[in-house]
Amino acid sequence: MTFKKAEWPRKLRSQHWYGGNSRDAIYHRGWLKNQGHPHDLFDGRPIIGILNTWSDLTPCNGHLRELAEKVKAGVWEAGGFPVEVPVFSASENTFRPTAMMFRNLAAMAVEEAMRGQPIDGAVLMVGCDKTTPSLLMAAASTDIPSIVVTGGPMLNGYFRGERVGSGTHLWIFSEAVKAGEMTQEEFIEAEASMSRSSGTCNTMGTASTMASMAEALGMALSGNAAIPAVDSRRRVMAQMTGRRIVEMVKDDLKPSDILTKQAFENAIRTNAAIGGSTNAVIHLLAIAGRVGVDLTLDDWDRLGRDIPTIVNLMPSGKYLMEEFFYAGGLPVVLKRLGEAGVLHRDALTVSGAAIWDEVKDVVNWNEDVILPAEKALAQSGGIVVLKGNLAPRGAVLKPSAATPALMVHRGRAVVFEDIDDYKAKIEDEALDIDETCVMVLKNCGPKGYPGMAEVGNMGLPPKVLRKGITDMVRISDARMSGTAYGTVVLHTSPEAAAGGPLAVVRDGDMISLDVPNRSLTVEISDEEMAARLAAWTPSHEMPASGYAWLHQTHVEGADTGADLDFLKGCRGREVGKDSH
Ligand code: FES
Repeated sequence: MTFKKAEWPRKLRSQHWYGGNSRDAIYHRGWLKNQGHPHDLFDGRPIIGILNTWSDLTPCNGHLRELAEKVKAGVWEAGGFPVEVPVFSASENTFRPTAMMFRNLAAMAVEEAMRGQPIDGAVLMVGCDKTTPSLLMAAASTDIPSIVVTGGPMLNGYFRGERVGSGTHLWIFSEAVKAGEMTQEEFIEAEASMSRSSGTCNTMGTASTMASMAEALGMALSGNAAIPAVDSRRRVMAQMTGRRIVEMVKDDLKPSDILTKQAFENAIRTNAAIGGSTNAVIHLLAIAGRVGVDLTLDDWDRLGRDIPTIVNLMPSGKYLMEEFFYAGGLPVVLKRLGEAGVLHRDALTVSGAAIWDEVKDVVNWNEDVILPAEKALAQSGGIVVLKGNLAPRGAVLKPSAATPALMVHRGRAVVFEDIDDYKAKIEDEALDIDETCVMVLKNCGPKGYPGMAEVGNMGLPPKVLRKGITDMVRISDARMSGTAYGTVVLHTSPEAAAGGPLAVVRDGDMISLDVPNRSLTVEISDEEMAARLAAWTPSHEMPASGYAWLHQTHVEGADTGADLDFLKGCRGREVGKDSH
């Protein structure tokens, strides 16, 4: 921890708009005064942008306007001047073709909203899957002091006395309907039971994972990730966050001070311990790319390799975020990592203190929710990175969500050229497939879908499900919802639409998955592979214009974070010329 506080008072960037008595200053102040602000608010105090991803069509963040009032209260209390700024909100459950296609657009828009406006510090109000990484990417690219407060998870779902996890039970129930074990009417009855309150998915899905990543990176106050959305302590957290950002601005505590290589290493190990989403791989690589930290896919395998998954939450385990909060939440996990010697204890956080100081005295209140290491769900819980002639630049698999017996598997490929091909064939009883086969799905990567949809956990064929089989090896260049599970190889890179080897796998090829040896191969000769690749031509159409064109033209591979190539790096917070 080498951070040195800036001197205070000093002139802040917002004073370039509001300071002094020039015509421009009067112009800027005068218009804002139509909100009823007294003149002395423009005296050089920190102006805090509350960047709010609230939207009626982002239901997971639907309560953030109310929560923003508590952030504002905290900012006022600490002597700041809060301004609430609505920003691009990419809802996971609404946006088509996929919210992921818009993560980078959101990051680009938010970056410009931060830099182009009189904001000295930012509170990133996020929750649903893509909102957290997109705002963190923007903050990293502007390096304006920023702090995350998430909306918090929904309360536990219950259906007929059993816990129901967001997303996880959608997959379980839909397979049960296909297998004839559940009626459509029961499925509809279960629908409402999954989402009982405001908040994000209540499993350790991508939203909860990214909230945990923000906390492990040091970008949120300690304890933020797990507090339920409707718990009064969530509102207290929002208020404390508002107070804290004002001090961060005074100290000039910036994302680049916090988002160090050590912080990313802490986050990767945390992801292994919580059984977090594979989506965190892509998002952390992208955030690191913005702040200039050299983070690679191989770091994920190396750092997570011996970290046990100790958080017993769906989809890997049995509980939900509400119970994680009652057990003590993420600080308990960080403490355990620190005790095991695998946490960089002196990594700086938004609090201004080292991460270890934040967590060293916390208590685990439920050892069935946060397990002792010897009872871990997986002893090596980290994301596995597989390589081989099918994935020269890597593919990922989440061991805690997979079937141990399938970790070494050889099977015949059953190929789906794209998601439409999969949907057209999967329920066909004549499809030549059984549980020993390997399902291969192409053209669902960053360019292919486009946007890299969460379809990698493709449902099994009904005729296999009826045998009581619940898992098969599946391989794709897609992503998988953090709420999903199975022996699913994801993010295969290069993707099929970019001419990766996945593009030329054929029905009947033999595929070998060997997780202990980190290998993924299709059993064809180098010559055959070269011949097939030479004959390959793209099958997807390039959009002629619009953001889809920009995305398809510039998106990078999943192995480096799927950012747009021209958005990587930190462009700083310099104020542009005044237009008046
Ligand atoms: Fe928004 Fe899960 S769909 S958090």
